[in-house]
Formats: sequence, C-alpha cells, structure tokens
Amino acid sequence: MKDSIDTIYQAITSYKVDNAAALEQFRIKFLGSKSDIKTLFTELKHVPNEQKKEIGKLLNELRMYAESTFDNHKLSIETTSVKKGVIDFSKPGDFNQVGSHHPISTIKNEIIEIFNRIGYIVSEGPEIEDDWHNFSALNFPPEHPARDMQDTFFIEKGEREMALRTHTSSVQVRVMENTTPPIRTISPGRVYRNEAISARAHCFFHQVEGLYIDKNVSFADLKQTLLYFAQEMFGEKAQIRMRPSYFPFTEPSAEVDVSCSICNAKGCNVCKNTGWLEILGCGMVDPNVLEASGIDSSIYSGFAFGMGVERITQLKYKVNDLRMYSENDIRFLKQFTPTI
Ligand code: PHE
Repeated sequence: MKDSIDTIYQAITSYKVDNAAALEQFRIKFLGSKSDIKTLFTELKHVPNEQKKEIGKLLNELRMYAESTFDNHKLSIETTSVKKGVIDFSKPGDFNQVGSHHPISTIKNEIIEIFNRIGYIVSEGPEIEDDWHNFSALNFPPEHPARDMQDTFFIEKGEREMALRTHTSSVQVRVMENTTPPIRTISPGRVYRNEAISARAHCFFHQVEGLYIDKNVSFADLKQTLLYFAQEMFGEKAQIRMRPSYFPFTEPSAEVDVSCSICNAKGCNVCKNTGWLEILGCGMVDPNVLEASGIDSSIYSGFAFGMGVERITQLKYKVNDLRMYSENDIRFLKQFTPTI
C-alpha cells in the first residue's frame, strides 16, 4: 500500500499540465471517481487494523496533495491565458436572464392593492364548484342560460354534478356563509366559460370580484368606491359612468364604464369614438342572496362588483388579442420584463 502511495505521489508531481484539456485529464486521473486514489481508499478495509490509522492518514495527505496540485495548475493556466490574451476582459459580461411577472399577475396584484388600501381582504375558493355556490345561492333562476352546457363546463365528480366556476361570486357566497357582517372582501381567481376561443373571448380568464356588507350600505357608497378604484387604476382624471343592467344576484344592477384613458375621452378606435370603456359589473346585493347565506336582509345591505383582469390589462397595456395571455410566447412575455 505504501509503495502504491509513493508511486502516485511521483505520478502527480511529474504529470505535465499546460492547457485546459490536460487539466481535465489530471482531474479524472487523480481526483475522479475511478482514480487510483479512490481505489486505495476502498482497499483500506483490507489493511490490518493496527496499520489502518497510519495508512488512512497517508491516503488523506495524498488526496490533499492531488487537490492542491490541481488548484495550482488551474491557477497557472488561467494566468497564462490572460497573459496570452485568450481571455478578453473588455468583452461585455453574460447577464443572467431574469424572469418577470405575467402582465395578468401584475394587474391582478395592483387591483388587490388598491382595494387593500380601503380595508378589503382577499378571499379564495375552489375552481370546481357545486351548483349551490356558483348558481342557486346567487339567485340564478332554473332556466338561466348560464346553467346551460353551452355556457358552463359541467363535470361529473363521483355522484355529483359539479361545474368549473363561471365567476368568483361563488367565493363570496362561502364568505357570507361563514362570516358575520361587516364584510369587506375581494376574490381574485381564474374562472371558466364555454366560449369559442377568439381574440375577444376565451374559455378561461381571471376576475376580481368585491363584496361589501354592513348596516346602511347605499348605492352612493358603491359609486364612490368604484370611482376611487378607477382613479387609482387609470389616473386621477378618470371618470366613471353607470348604465342600468341586470344580474340575478344584484338589484339594482349596473355596468360601469371608465373614461377612455387612451384618448382622454376624446374618442378613438379603442373606445369606438364614445370616450368610454366598459370595465365592470356591479349592483346592490339582492336580499335573496343575503338570506340564502344566512344574513338578515332586514338589518344588512351590501354591494358587489366584478371585473375581468384581462379586460383591465388590455386597457393598461393596449393588448388587443386575449389569446396572447395564455400562449406563453416568450416574445410577448419579454415585453413585460422590468428593465434594471
Ligand atoms: N359575477 C358577475 C360576472 O361574472 C360580475 C358581477 C359581480 C356583477 C358582482 C355584479 C355584481 O359577470
């Protein structure tokens, strides 16, 4: 054993290393997993017990010698490369590729922050929902078109028929069932609708829905809250207008337009020369909905609103085609990389 150790010492000392390839050969020969030094280590178990300590120590020293010789060779190769001009220090460095937030996430987070500032907390719920939370508790009549296969993805789950949620209002039913008012919550999340995919429609998208329930909540509170949102999101000059609308779960209901931030409401092709852009639906929570979730509608009232995150993102980033958000095309996503 001692002889083998001596032989390896000599081999290390006389091994010529003057370029990177030779350095790699050196590494494989003396430090690799099949090196003679490794083999000697495995043979250590056959050495008589009284010699084990001494031989073990010699072997460790040998390995350290191989390692330090390797380091020395490496350093001298690097220094000669610099001297020879093989390494060009004036070359620009390789920058690390940094990822970025998806534009939908960025805008979703911005919406959440805006409502956080006035006391709304985030609530989340399942994407596979039962009929009660997605429809019945929200006052959808049995014949409502959303209950049709044409509009909603229904799935069998065991014995039960479930649906991919068509809106995050379902989360708000869960909150109402489990919380005593006052309630101030927003529910961001992915929702699904059975739509043919085109530039203007997709079978899934993202929503942020909001709910406020307390004593004496009025339509004026709703309007003021949405004006605050529009001005935080689109700038302090933003105006809103409300148009009467219908949703099963709110009464009265409205659709809300924001003044076009692209043309300063002067009229352009994005707002179709109207100066207004539709951004969300809203209304006063229907008493039937409060009662279905166990909230006394003679004491409490509330408002709800819901918006599509893609819609707001389109307006902020002027992206016309909805499909781009889920194609994962690196050229599209790269445009949203923060510049450092
Ligand atoms: N849930 C509605 C939708 O998905 C949006 C909405 C929420 C409308 C709350 C009114 C009140 O379209």
